[in-house]
Order: sequence, then structure tokens, then C-alpha cells
Amino acid sequence: MGDEKQLHEDRKMEHVKIICEKGMQASRNWIDDVYLHPSAIPSIDPGDIDTSCMLFGRKFDAPFYIAGMTGGHPKSKKINEVLARACVKAKIPLGLGSQRVALDNDTLVETYKVARDVSDDLFLIGNIGMSQLVKSKNPVVIAKKCVDMIKANALAIHFNKLQELVQPEGDRAFAKVMDIVEAVAYALKVPIILKEVGAGFSRSDFEILKNFRIGAVDVGGYGGTNFALVEAERVNEEKYPYTRNMGEVFKDCGIPTPVSVVFSKKYARIPTLATGGIRTGLDVVKMLCLGADMAGLAYPFLIACLNDISSDATSIENCMKEIETIKAEIKIAMCMLNAKRVGDLGAAMVHMSQELLGWID
Ligand SMILES: Cc1cc2nc3c(=O)[nH]c(=O)nc-3n(C[C@H](O)[C@H](O)[C@H](O)COP(=O)(O)O)c2cc1C
Repeated sequence: MGDEKQLHEDRKMEHVKIICEKGMQASRNWIDDVYLHPSAIPSIDPGDIDTSCMLFGRKFDAPFYIAGMTGGHPKSKKINEVLARACVKAKIPLGLGSQRVALDNDTLVETYKVARDVSDDLFLIGNIGMSQLVKSKNPVVIAKKCVDMIKANALAIHFNKLQELVQPEGDRAFAKVMDIVEAVAYALKVPIILKEVGAGFSRSDFEILKNFRIGAVDVGGYGGTNFALVEAERVNEEKYPYTRNMGEVFKDCGIPTPVSVVFSKKYARIPTLATGGIRTGLDVVKMLCLGADMAGLAYPFLIACLNDISSDATSIENCMKEIETIKAEIKIAMCMLNAKRVGDLGAAMVHMSQELLGWID
């Protein structure tokens, strides 16, 4: 195997290990600056609350999903299998991590395909980076390969400009990204999801995105797992070309998740997925009140599934308990808002701190 390919496989597992052991969470989670505007007079029974939702013409039992994290390593095969089993049981979607390494190495395909093997009914979101598409001679072929590899129901293209920029070895072929997105969107039979990974999409991004044929945007806002911090941690000081650690300098550069959700609904009006710091069912409901169609969680499920990176143990029980906890929290929040259905949440009132509003006005 070439050195570059080995490097990518190693880097993916190194990310999982660093995040698992050290957290690598943003210093501020802005979802705490969004408050429900609850109603004191009850009008519905908790038992009558329906948490199901629709996205891409499919019905799910709850308005959240497990966001893409891993693949390409024996350990990630186990993680993907457990997450897939949990998502099938809970009837929610699952995202996989970047499929980059499996495009060049057939032996790694099973670390992703394991999720599809769990069930044909699972709504599975494939994943590839914008940089991999730009670098390839035929991006449409690459995108189709990712979809076919796992019979994906949708393909997420991750936009991770900040992460690539703060890595000394990062990919920086950015200029043609949107031309390629357009070509891929027209060529694929499944919807594409444009997905940030911690820096969020801005208002001007959404003004551009509204003109593209995109299935959904995953805002990937600032406030949760922070890849600038992850890259800061990976720096090899002896070989580092700069006097300051770029990941440290830029670790707080990003649009807060709730702000990016509001921008998406206001300026693009495309289906919106909220990831970046969603930690509870209350957070899910807050995002739905702001206009998101679903919310996604990555880090909490990595921890639930793995707990201890040094051991090989994965736990479907922990994942199911986390899913049930989030569902229970969603029901409490919906009951406080007298919202019987997820669709009612768009009309529910929320309050934002002045500081958060300052990002929007
Ligand atoms: C261990 C780990 C690996 C990740 N790998 C990917 C990836 O390969 N592709 C991607 O689009 N996002 C990846 N993400 C980003 C998540 O999908 C999600 O957008 C981000 O972590 C924010 O959600 P969180 O705050 O709930 O963790 C990864 C996240 C984690 C925690």
C-alpha cells in the first residue's frame, strides 16, 4: 500500500482515538443560548405525542440520526455494525465516515458495507470529502462508487475547509468545488447532502446554495466536536513549519449551529439537518423549533458505543439507552410546547440570547 493511503487510514483512526480520549469539544456550545418558550397550560397527553418525521420521502421514528464518523479500520467495522444495529432498531438514519480509504483499497470496503449488511431497510448516508472529489479525475465516478459501495440512500459531501487549512498536509484544491457538486448532484440517483464539520455554513453560503440541486444541508455548525482542536493535538512539534499551532489559533472560528440553521431556513429554504453540539433531545427540539428538519449527533454515540478506545468492546446496549434517553427528552420538550407532532415545532416559540441574536441581525 502507498504511503499516502496508509497515512489516511491511520489518520482516521487517530481522530477517533483523540476524540474518544480527549473530547475535543468546542469551548462554547451555543445551543445553550437557545431557550424553549414553554406553555404552562397542558393541552395534550404525553402518550399522544408522535415523534416521527419525514425526510427524503422516508418516515423515521424520531427526528434525529447518528452523524457520520468512521470506517476503514477493523475497529471502525465493529463501531459501524453496532451503530447500524441501533439505528435499525430505533428506525433512524445512520451516517458513515468518509469512504475515501475504501475507494483505493477493496479490503476496507467491508468496514463500511457492514452497516448495509445489517439491514436493507436502514437509511444509510454515504460520505466523501469535497477535496477528494476535486482531486479526482472523475468526481462523478467517485461519488457513484461511494453510493454503490453501501447502497447508500443519500451521499454526504463534507466541506471541511478549516480542517484542511490548519493541517500542514491538508488538501487545498478548493476553487472548483461547487462546479463539481453540481455535476455530482445531477449524476446521482440519490440526494446529496452538503455537510460542514464544525465551522458551519454562513448566510452568504446559503444564498449560493439555494441555486443548487441539493437534497439537504447539514449545517455542521460550531459548538460540538472541533476538528481544529483535533488537528492542534496531532501536531508534531519537531516537524511543524510555524511558530504557532494553527489549530489552536483557529479553534473558535465557526458559525454557531443554531445560527447556521436559521440562515439555512431563511436564505436557502432547503431541507436542513443540524449537527454540531447536539447533545440531548432538548437540543434536538430546539433545532427543530428553529427550522431544522432533523438533528444529528456524532460524539455522544462514539462515546456510548466505544466508551474505552483501548479495549475492543462496543456496546449496543449503551447506544440504545442513549437513543431512548434522547427520545424521552424530545417528548418532554414537545409536551412543554404542547406540540403533538414534530411538524408543530416550526410554529413553537424559542428565545435566543442577545449574544446569539447578534450573529443573526
Ligand atoms: C470521531 C469522529 C469522526 C468523524 N468523521 C467524519 C467523517 O469522516 N466525515 C464527516 O463528514 N464527518 C465526520 N465527523 C463529523 C460528524 O459527522 C459531525 O458533523 C460533527 O462531529 C459534529 O457533531 P457532534 O458535535 O455531535 O460530534 C466525525 C466526527 C467524529 C466525532
